[in-house]
Amino acid sequence: MQDKLILGIESSCDETAAAVVKGGRTVLSNVISSQIDIHTLYGGVVPEIASRKHTERINQVIRHALSDAHVTLSDIDAIAVTYGPGLVGALLVGVAEAKAISFATGIDLVGVHHIEGHISANYIEHADLEPPFLSLVVSGGHTHLVNVTGFGEYEILGRTRDDAAGEAFDKVARAIGLGYPGGPKIDKVAKEGDPDAIAFPRAHVNASAYDFSFSGLKSAVLNYLNSCEMKGEQIVVADVAASFQKAVVDVLVENSMLACREHGAKKFALAGGVASNSALRKAMQEACDREGIGFYMPSPIFCTDNAAMIAVAGYYEYEKGVRSGLDLNAVPNLPLGTR
Ligand code: KG4
Ligand code: ZN
Repeated sequence: MQDKLILGIESSCDETAAAVVKGGRTVLSNVISSQIDIHTLYGGVVPEIASRKHTERINQVIRHALSDAHVTLSDIDAIAVTYGPGLVGALLVGVAEAKAISFATGIDLVGVHHIEGHISANYIEHADLEPPFLSLVVSGGHTHLVNVTGFGEYEILGRTRDDAAGEAFDKVARAIGLGYPGGPKIDKVAKEGDPDAIAFPRAHVNASAYDFSFSGLKSAVLNYLNSCEMKGEQIVVADVAASFQKAVVDVLVENSMLACREHGAKKFALAGGVASNSALRKAMQEACDREGIGFYMPSPIFCTDNAAMIAVAGYYEYEKGVRSGLDLNAVPNLPLGTR
């Protein structure tokens, strides 16, 4: 089982990606064809365009992943494909492609949950990491605090009540004129700003200490921008970016550490596109060091959408005997932990 080769396929949003992973931990290839340039023209992801671009690129991306790994389809033991959550038309391209290859070759098929993929990205560069551990998944569509009790076994402790963390980054970036995609741009500009310049609120959800809410923070930034405009005051973009980013990071770190303490967690893993944020990585590392908790995070290339993480998650599902049929369908709102 150790050396099983998994071909991963990911097309849930705006990256067309394929990868080959050996034994669940060793990435032999990781090809990502980003559509960011096209969607930037429209200020965000246009679902119809995303599906069309996935269709145009997917065959080429898979061929590229196989050739980079110096393997052919006959070497592949299973195909792991994201089947949800995500944009339905985008997901369908990857799912249809994976089913077609499986049907034509007889290679086993494993449907993978996108968030399970993000969490599993941590296994790639940390050979020692095994469940149980707590994980914070922060992406464009999700903000989940998860107790990973076993490979492929998840208990959701907290989630966002409104906007996802990445969504808040993207909306605030648009408001301060940085454009799409907002997260990396705020990350960069914030380095030149003062994180204590503006006192933006740290939102806490009273009913659940592990839940998040970012819409109030987003409104606070918009109100601040409006009031500056009305008073004729110059906006210091770097200060707004740094102060907003600090407010998000503070809440993410605080809730995560509370969950770690209350669950007696010894290990904590960051995941998702926002996990590539430099301020969050630094703050979470420092907090875990303070609390004496082992801290894990993927390299930035494995934080944002990629197919290596899907292949890794697929490997552990495959190892448990999970197989999907040719009736596998795209499920845009797939809940974590359904099988
Ligand atoms: O995981 P991901 O690639 O796609 C989803 O599953 O949603 O996450 C994309 C999100 C976007 O909202 C993007 O702005 C954010 O991750 N992001 C960042 C950074 N890089 C990507 N947010 C903050 N700082 C970054 N460096
Ligand atoms: Zn993602």
